Amino acid sequence: MPKLSIHGYGDDLTINNFRLGDLSPAEHEKIDKEKGGRNYNPLENVVVSHVKDSSTLICRKPSENGVAAYIEEELIDGLCCYSAVNQGQLNRTIVDAVVKHLTEEKLPTVPRSIRHKYMSAFLLATTGITEMDRVVPKVAGVEAPELMFKLSRRWGYKIKGVPQNEAIIVAANGNFHGRTVTAVSMSDDLDAREGFGPFVPGIELVPFNNIDALTSLFESKGEKIVAFLVEPIQGEAGVIVPDEDYWTQVRALCDKHNILLAMDEVQTGFGRTGANFAHQLYNVKPDLMGCGKAAGGGILPVSFVAGSDEVIGVLTPGSEGSTFGGYPLGAVVGVYAIKVLIEEKLAENAKIRGAQLMSHFENMQTDFPDKIKEVRGKGLLTAFEMQYSPKLDGHHVSVELLKRGVYAKETHHSTVRIAPALTIEAWQIDNIAESIWNVINEI
Ligand SMILES: Cc1ncc(COP(=O)(O)O)c(C=O)c1O
Repeated sequence: MPKLSIHGYGDDLTINNFRLGDLSPAEHEKIDKEKGGRNYNPLENVVVSHVKDSSTLICRKPSENGVAAYIEEELIDGLCCYSAVNQGQLNRTIVDAVVKHLTEEKLPTVPRSIRHKYMSAFLLATTGITEMDRVVPKVAGVEAPELMFKLSRRWGYKIKGVPQNEAIIVAANGNFHGRTVTAVSMSDDLDAREGFGPFVPGIELVPFNNIDALTSLFESKGEKIVAFLVEPIQGEAGVIVPDEDYWTQVRALCDKHNILLAMDEVQTGFGRTGANFAHQLYNVKPDLMGCGKAAGGGILPVSFVAGSDEVIGVLTPGSEGSTFGGYPLGAVVGVYAIKVLIEEKLAENAKIRGAQLMSHFENMQTDFPDKIKEVRGKGLLTAFEMQYSPKLDGHHVSVELLKRGVYAKETHHSTVRIAPALTIEAWQIDNIAESIWNVINEI
């Protein structure tokens, strides 16, 4: 038996001789690099300790005089866990529901092989908010596009009549759907794919926001194409917003060729873009949609696929499943995440605060036309892209923003995404914008 002693809470949490409250940022980094998978490259010299309020993190930075292991500082969270915390950190309604559920209602975990009462609440709330017929609960975000992929193939064989094993799924260049083999098979990001082949067959890519490319692909291979699986606004690609009429044209094209429109709303859903779901901004309805991230209210991983009776109806017992998909605690969190989305008018706040942030960005672009190439966004999914130059480096901007009390992260060399909690207040938006302006001014 390995000798392992674990005791204490918070800073007193001690694993053998390592007490968390004693570790400097450099020591945390050392443990991460020695014991972790090294599959992330987090910002240097900063470790988050706890949250202060809905959109503020308390983080630890190296102590300059070296007397203490670290100093603590406040950061406005401009990323909110890649849109997983739309409801704000420790949202009171969701936390109360979790505490009540665990201490009074008392049903954390049972398997899907026996019904539990909270599943009914989850299905009623998720089908209600998505206005879809059926929902299948999952856990991680990536499981939503993964399941949409499977559902589309099965629908293709059972309903559309595509010959067995010949189904094609179309995805967009620059997409991000997660990290499973299916998701990276759809990706054209070399870092995400390198060394992980062979990939899932039956995938074709088209340029995003290019209706002509999609039309010609559908015309040449439409009989075997079962779905266009796509983000309504591309998040990881750097907040790529399509033309206003793109989705109505795509919808019509899908209908013409009997091809499913499967939208990955993992990042764009739950109020992020100024509507509950981004496709609603464009007045189209997908046949399938995948949600994750904020579906768990920033508390637990909760994801799901919602869709039409015809498509989700192709599932049969044994064809799909998940130990923790829709388990009681996850179901309760999912229901309250939706309650907060509605009652705290998150989409509306995203629209108002997003417009405020975009107007700051536009002013910044006017002030620095030689530095800022483009500003983009819908609601509070926003980004600014700098002109391409070694000095205008997104990582450098993120590091400089950190010094000014703002946490943000580059998506590519020249693009920085700003996507704070949807509970953010006007003065915090002004602070973020002012810090960005100062950093750009000094470069
Ligand atoms: C559009 C989209 N789909 C899927 C995922 C994967 O979600 P997760 O990392 O929770 O598996 C992400 C994550 O960023 C995403 O942005």
